[in-house]
Parts: sequence; structure tokens; C-alpha cells
Amino acid sequence: MAPAAAPEDDELIKDEKNPRPLDEDDIALLKTYGLGPYSNSIKKEEKEIKELAKKINDLCGIKESDTGLAAPSQWDLVSDKQMMQEEQPLQVARCTKIINPNTEDAKYVINVKQIAKFVVGLGDKVSPTDIEEGMRVGVDRNKYQIQIPLPPKIDPSVTMMTVEEKPDVTYNDVGGCKEQIEKMREVVELPMLHPEKFVKLGIDPPKGVLCYGPPGTGKTLLARAVANRTDACFIRVIGSELVQKYVGEGARMVRELFQMARSKKACIVFFDEVDAIGGARFDDGVGGDNEVQRTMLEIVNQLDGFDARGNIKVLMATNRPDTLDPALLRPGRLDRKVEFGLPDLESRTQIFKIHTRTMNCERDIRFELLARLCPNSTGADIRSVCTEAGMYAIRARRKTVTEKDFLDAVNKPAAGRSISETCAIGVGAGVADAASQIGVCDAGVR
Ligand SMILES: Nc1ncnc2c1ncn2[C@@H]1O[C@H](COP(=O)(O)OP(=O)(O)O)[C@@H](O)[C@H]1O
Ligand SMILES: [Mg+2]
Repeated sequence: MAPAAAPEDDELIKDEKNPRPLDEDDIALLKTYGLGPYSNSIKKEEKEIKELAKKINDLCGIKESDTGLAAPSQWDLVSDKQMMQEEQPLQVARCTKIINPNTEDAKYVINVKQIAKFVVGLGDKVSPTDIEEGMRVGVDRNKYQIQIPLPPKIDPSVTMMTVEEKPDVTYNDVGGCKEQIEKMREVVELPMLHPEKFVKLGIDPPKGVLCYGPPGTGKTLLARAVANRTDACFIRVIGSELVQKYVGEGARMVRELFQMARSKKACIVFFDEVDAIGGARFDDGVGGDNEVQRTMLEIVNQLDGFDARGNIKVLMATNRPDTLDPALLRPGRLDRKVEFGLPDLESRTQIFKIHTRTMNCERDIRFELLARLCPNSTGADIRSVCTEAGMYAIRARRKTVTEKDFLDAVNKPAAGRSISETCAIGVGAGVADAASQIGVCDAGVR
């Protein structure tokens, strides 16, 4: 085709809008770009190897299958059946007593529910040290020998509350709240790291901490930081999770929760939004809330019940400390009460810096000015200001956030943001105007 088209070549080249289509030679030339001297032969060898492997697999009878089963020709149903018969499912029993413990002829009294009690020995695979009185065990169905120790029965929904993955929040991500962090660490970390100090002095370390304060001041955030720092098991319960449909369920969950906590070496239990269950007891004449109260009483009971030097710490957080039952707050149960207030100027500046750390910001943003511009705002408010500033930048199709974006965001009267009242002055005013308002706002702070 190429030689035949030769007379038209010049015209086509001149006409840039209609370039000459590539012919076979060109394509062959293009295909050699980026190839090494041996590429072709290597490819050919690889293809051959693949074909050979496939041939070998075919001969062996291995097939790719979705189920992962071997080829039917290789099944051995008879021996499989035999093996299954040998391994019978175990039965759950409770070991109620050990006769002659720590001797050669120790015997175990087990109670198989709704069948009978037996005196049995141990199976081959269990060592005597594994079995304790009161333990749940698995026994075989013929001789009722103990085959395996079982963990205590705990509701799966309770087991799910354990925080396995540590949150990535550290104390550095909490702006301000110096005093609160200090108090919290004193209660949580000191007894766990240096229990001997308390033993020497003869006092009980505090069992628990109640965090209270307006929403968005960092209560949950600080608890997450604690969870991140500690090696102890961290269990997080949201108050409403304990409100259950059936009578007694909530209290049972609390019991199992503490049972699980006690089985760990060290454990921190965090009840968030505890007002869902910790409300003061009152009689509404209908008795509808009795169940919730029973749950709370179980918590009180558990707080009293365990040994304080046992390594369980209880943290609670709420926005409404006034609604809590005094019984929950009495000394000896939750000894420490940590108030989270609105951050002051310095803290606000710090919170601004924390939340803009990951943002792509202009340099030299005057965070202190911004902090001055939003008095009476919580950490959550400041975070929303930062997000809002980012939105302004996105709308303007910029890659960095400027100080003007922040000022705009601060002045934006967002519904539900507590700073909206204080910034009402700045509404509609330009940036320059906002800057002139500093004096006014500042006076408000002091
Ligand atoms: N002191 C603070 N430092 C940094 N960020 C904070 C602070 N307080 C609140 N925030 C921000 O506000 C968000 C909500 O705070 P949170 O702790 O959940 O409030 P609450 O006190 O209602 O539990 C946090 O995720 C965090 O981004
Ligand atoms: Mg919270």
C-alpha cells in the first residue's frame, strides 16, 4: 500500500489535519521501541514454560476450581468418614470441684447441664495446671473426660466492645486541656505503672474518672488518646448500648463486661455518654425506666465489687453531670471528676494549629488572631472552622488555604455553631472589617 500511495504522500504531510495513517512498517518499527535485544526470545521461552506447566497439571489431574477441593479421583471418602467419627464434638460442662488437687490421682467433678454430675479424669491433651475450679470445660461424649479448657461465657456483643486497633490520637492531638490530661494520667497511668507507691502509703488509688463538660470539648478525644497510650486492654461502651429490650439484659451485659475486664491483666473501661443509663433514680409512676436504673445499679455494684488495686479503671464521659445519680458519683466509686471547659485563647491557638497540621496552608497564618476571633468556641467548633476554610479554598479552586479563607470561615454564621452569636457583629463585613473587630471580640474574652 505504501508505494501506491506515494504520489499523494507530499500532500498528506502538508495537510496537518489529515495525517498519513501508519502503515505496517511503521507499526513494526514502533513495536521495537523499548525492547531489549533478548526480549522476544525471553517471551517465547516464558510462553513455552507456561504451556509445559499446564500440560503437567493436566496430566496430574489438578484443575483450578472455585471450591479449592481436590479432583474427585483423589477423594478418600472412607477414611474421611472414619476420621470424623473419631473426632466427636465435645460437650460443654462446668468443673465444679477438684478432688486431690496437685497430686497424681486428681479427679475432677464436672456438671453437665441437664444430664448429671460426674467424677472424671483428664484427657491426654490437657495439663492439670490448665484446669481450675469453676471453669467451663469441654468434655468428650463417651467417658466425659475433660478435653479442653474453655474461656468464660461472654456475650459476643460485649466481646465486640474491646478496642483492638489503637486509635491514632495521641496527647499531642489534644489542644489545651493540660490540667485535664494531667489529672487523667495520674489516675490511669500511675496506679498501673507504680502500684507500689499506693501500697506503701496505704491508700487506694482512685477507681475511676468522670469527664464532664459541654459537647465538643474533647472528652471522647482525650479518652482515645489514653487508649492509644496504654498497653492495657481498652473497652469502650456507649451508654445506649447497654439499654436492652428485655429486663435484666443490660445488667447482665455490665456483669459480663466486668468479668471480661477482670480476666485481663490490666483494663480500662470507658463509658461514653453515660447519661443514657446513669440518670438519677426517680419514680415516674409507670416504672418504664426501672430497667435502665437496674443497669446503672449493676455498674455501681461492680464499681464497689472489684478490688481497686486490681487493674481496672473506669472512665466515664457525659455532657450532663447534673442528671447523674448521686450514687454513681459518691466518693469511692468515681473519685475523680474532671471538668472540660471551653478552651482559652492559648488552647484555641493550639487547637487551630493541630487541625491545620495536615492541611495545605499558606505560611504565616496568624492563628492567634483567628483564636481571638472565635471566643467561646469549643474544639469541635474550631475544627469545623478549619474544614470550612478548606471548603472555601476548594470552591476557589486553590490548592492551598489562605488566611482569608480562615477569616471568611470564622465570619460565616453557621447554624448550630456557638461562635455564630459572637461573630454576628462580623457578618456581612469584609475581612478588613473583621480585623478591626478584634478589639471588640478581644474585650469580650477578658
Ligand atoms: N482540645 C481539643 N483539641 C483538639 N481537638 C479538639 C479538642 N476538643 C475537641 N476537638 C475536636 O472536636 C471533635 C469532637 O470532640 P469530642 O471529644 O468528640 O467531644 P465530646 O467532648 O463531646 O466527646 C474532636 O474529634 C476533635 O477534632
Ligand atoms: Mg463524646
